Amino acid sequence: MNDTIVDIEAMEILDSRGYPTIQVTVSLADGTRATASVPSGASTGENEALELRDGDRRRYGGKGVLSAVHNVEEQIAPELTGLAAHRQTEIDHIMLELDATENKRNLGANAILGVSMAVAKAAALSHRLPLYQYLGGTGARRIPVPCMNIINGGAHADNSVDFQEFMAVPIGALTFSDGLRYVAETFHVLKELLNKQDLSTGVGDEGGFAPNLPSNEAAIELILTAIEKAGYKPGSDIAIALDSAASSFFKAGTYDLRWSGSGQKDSAAMIELAEEWVKKYPIISWEDPLDENDWSGFSELTRRLGNDIEVVGDDIFVTNTRYIARGIEEKAANSALIKFNQIGTVSETIEACRMCRDAGWRYFISHRSGETEDTFLADFSVAMDGGHLKTGSASRGERIAKYNRLLEIEKELGDGALYYWK
Ligand code: PGA
Ligand code: ZN
Repeated sequence: MNDTIVDIEAMEILDSRGYPTIQVTVSLADGTRATASVPSGASTGENEALELRDGDRRRYGGKGVLSAVHNVEEQIAPELTGLAAHRQTEIDHIMLELDATENKRNLGANAILGVSMAVAKAAALSHRLPLYQYLGGTGARRIPVPCMNIINGGAHADNSVDFQEFMAVPIGALTFSDGLRYVAETFHVLKELLNKQDLSTGVGDEGGFAPNLPSNEAAIELILTAIEKAGYKPGSDIAIALDSAASSFFKAGTYDLRWSGSGQKDSAAMIELAEEWVKKYPIISWEDPLDENDWSGFSELTRRLGNDIEVVGDDIFVTNTRYIARGIEEKAANSALIKFNQIGTVSETIEACRMCRDAGWRYFISHRSGETEDTFLADFSVAMDGGHLKTGSASRGERIAKYNRLLEIEKELGDGALYYWK
């Protein structure tokens, strides 16, 4: 077990949308090799770490990542060779120093994250530990509740729904595998319902259906019907979680919901709408209900609804402790969405979770709309012990890969596995 890094290689591969992303392979002195690949978002927050793209329009419309590949092999690898792979924090710190910018624009957050993830995987393998245990210790045994995004809208689909994600959350199940079954069954019933109404059963970027619907509320109504028809009780067996991704329809100072027939609204009207829906529907979690710069709106919404539901900040916090700290101070939410590539290293992602935990906040581990078949996220969600995960629907291999990895972890943990919504 000699976990000294001897080689780091990178290459350009494709993500689930067919755009380039980076894959990194780390080799250790004991012969261990581990590979990780980096996801990519569509509805990105303004303050996310920079995803380095080549900008050469002759290749993939400028979206190539050969410069990030080059940065890994020519700049990062020489600095990290010879270090022990288990020194994750130190390794991540060296990359931050080498980059020397606030948003990782020199080396690219995609280059840095690929290395950071592959280093963690290699260290786990070398130490003969499953990744969730290597990162989370022997106490890591809580499998997250899968918030399954079964209707897609917004920037993830070309339909008439402007809220981005409508998730089914199996809070009443006693185990992860049962919870996954509850929501996968609901997904299948939803497909039948859509078929019967001559609505499209084509799927969006995260594998949820993307039909044209008369309103955002119609999506919730359909899901509630599907839950009941699948034999479950809305609210106690399966609840609803939403991600409005409101920044994507906040234009010129108003929330523009004209696309789905709900007109234009100001922040106060959006908060009223949220209150109304929370009374009417079994909603337990609501992400990005307002624009990423609407801090006072977030605080007001949390004041009114924070005791009833989880108010999750994604674009507003971008997994960055600087913004999460402000959110805690201003009581702007009670939960943060956690995405590796918003911040760019494994250590900083762990710090974001820790900050939430220390403040009594929840944290919600998340994939991106552009993913790969890498299952790092599944192990990470167990390691962080947060209990909330979103990784898409019951379709598309890159989403299913994470669910299947969680089933493996559950099997491995046996009676030790925990599962609950809190
Ligand atoms: P993204 O969407 O990966 O396209 O940013 C996910 C989300 O907004 O939560
Ligand atoms: Zn989001």
